[in-house]
Amino acid sequence: MLAVHADAAEVTTAEGLAEGGRLHPIQQAFVDRHGLQCGFCTPGILMTTLALLRETPSPDERQIREALSGNLCRCTGYQFIVESIQAAAEMIAPTIEPAPVGMPVGPDADAEPGATPRPAKPEWGG
Ligand code: FES
Repeated sequence: MLAVHADAAEVTTAEGLAEGGRLHPIQQAFVDRHGLQCGFCTPGILMTTLALLRETPSPDERQIREALSGNLCRCTGYQFIVESIQAAAEMIAPTIEPAPVGMPVGPDADAEPGATPRPAKPEWGG
């Protein structure tokens, strides 16, 4: 999304997940389950995971892979990422805060009202 679309909104980054020097359980799950290698994709995947777990506290593997469809990882092959998200869900699902009311989440979060939904998976030419 363009930064102007977040005007007056609260923005949380991956760095903002940790509190008091302690990793957020999602971050810890990625460390514990080897959900990252180079880390290039990790901030986006962590925030996607937070949004997913707010909407779907106990996602199945298909829901996790669907939520990740907008994130590219060139390192892990996604299996460790999926396992990290499953571990995070088990740890925090009972306690996670729901998304604020009216806060759009998911692949169409920045879409104008009434806009045609984007395809679930990006089409990569070639
Ligand atoms: S961990 Fe390297 S791109 Fe995902």
